[in-house]
Amino acid sequence: MRNKQIAVILLAAVAVFSFSSCKQKSIKNNKMVTSEKFGSFKGKDVFLYTLTNKKGDIIKLTNYGAAIVEIDVPDRNGNRANVTFGYDNLDGYLKGDPYFGKIVGRYANRIAKGKFTLDGTQYTLDINNDPNSLHGGRTGWHSRVWDAQVLSNTDFPSVKFTYVSPDMEEGYPGKVICNVVYAWTDNDEITIDYKATTDKNTVINLTNHAYFNLHGTGTGDILDHVLTIKASSYTPIDSTLIPTGEVVPVEGTPFDFRTPHAMGERINEKNDQLRFGKGYDHNFVLDNAEEVDASVYDPYSGRVLEVITDEPAVQFYSGNFLDGTQKGRGGKVYKYRAGFCLETQHYPDSPNHADFPSVVLIPEEPYTSSTVYRFSVKK
Ligand code: GAL
Repeated sequence: MRNKQIAVILLAAVAVFSFSSCKQKSIKNNKMVTSEKFGSFKGKDVFLYTLTNKKGDIIKLTNYGAAIVEIDVPDRNGNRANVTFGYDNLDGYLKGDPYFGKIVGRYANRIAKGKFTLDGTQYTLDINNDPNSLHGGRTGWHSRVWDAQVLSNTDFPSVKFTYVSPDMEEGYPGKVICNVVYAWTDNDEITIDYKATTDKNTVINLTNHAYFNLHGTGTGDILDHVLTIKASSYTPIDSTLIPTGEVVPVEGTPFDFRTPHAMGERINEKNDQLRFGKGYDHNFVLDNAEEVDASVYDPYSGRVLEVITDEPAVQFYSGNFLDGTQKGRGGKVYKYRAGFCLETQHYPDSPNHADFPSVVLIPEEPYTSSTVYRFSVKK
């Protein structure tokens, strides 16, 4: 009898909790998106969205910075752990984070001295990474509350985020309307589809800035993670991390990841490029010849991450600026090189390099781009 009473109370509690925590709910063919309040910023509500696929694996997203907050995927023994950096609440993000899981725009990566010329006019941007402009400036798209819509007529749990960037925001010309759709497939893939339109010529370069640690976050560095990047060349940088303009073969350098190498294997070699980047912080020019452009295998957990993109390049960043001052989800401390990023994108500083693939967005032709992060295990 007593057990029965407890069961009834528990059921009631679950029902109340589900009701209060799920503002929006969409279920079709077992796909599910729930949302709960995450905080508010400048009078706008911020939500945390939980997307569950048929395997029962989940990702969490927020409309603050259109960010990935959590990715819970199994290791080779079926034990789930969170493999990406994020915070327990909005406050963590508001205190300033190094772009954890965020959509970065209007221009991901650096623009030299915060200046570029388009159609004969020079534009001046925020210098937030002295002497350059980084990731769209201090109030770039990573720091905005995006509109969110849980999509219902899709094959997988999906959320669409929308941001309208006014003309001359952060110094960039043109009003840009941007949509980013995240879907979480039953094959443990996060698909990210970007779309943007402008009313005036402008420049654009969008990426997702997720940090990964396939051991599970808060459990050591990423130096044992084995990386493959299908890139025969990369763009060397100067001491301010701006491309020199050259596109150089990786052959015979610590940047040759065409065959698998542990991230830490050559990271401390005497090499000017590694010195400038304080490790890996470089743009790899993708061969785009195979389905998978980059992959990472963690021998410890068996987890594998594959990256598939239609972007021409990927920035491999080995978490060199992490220093243990960031405390993320579940109180996990993000130490030096405790996470890596594979930011699919166009080349850094392209507006100042006519021979790099163009980043000019014109009103007549919308910008589209797709990237997939696919998780699996190797036994
Ligand atoms: C990366 C960039 C690094 C660093 C990091 C944020 O995209 O390449 O140099 O700025 O973002 O801390």
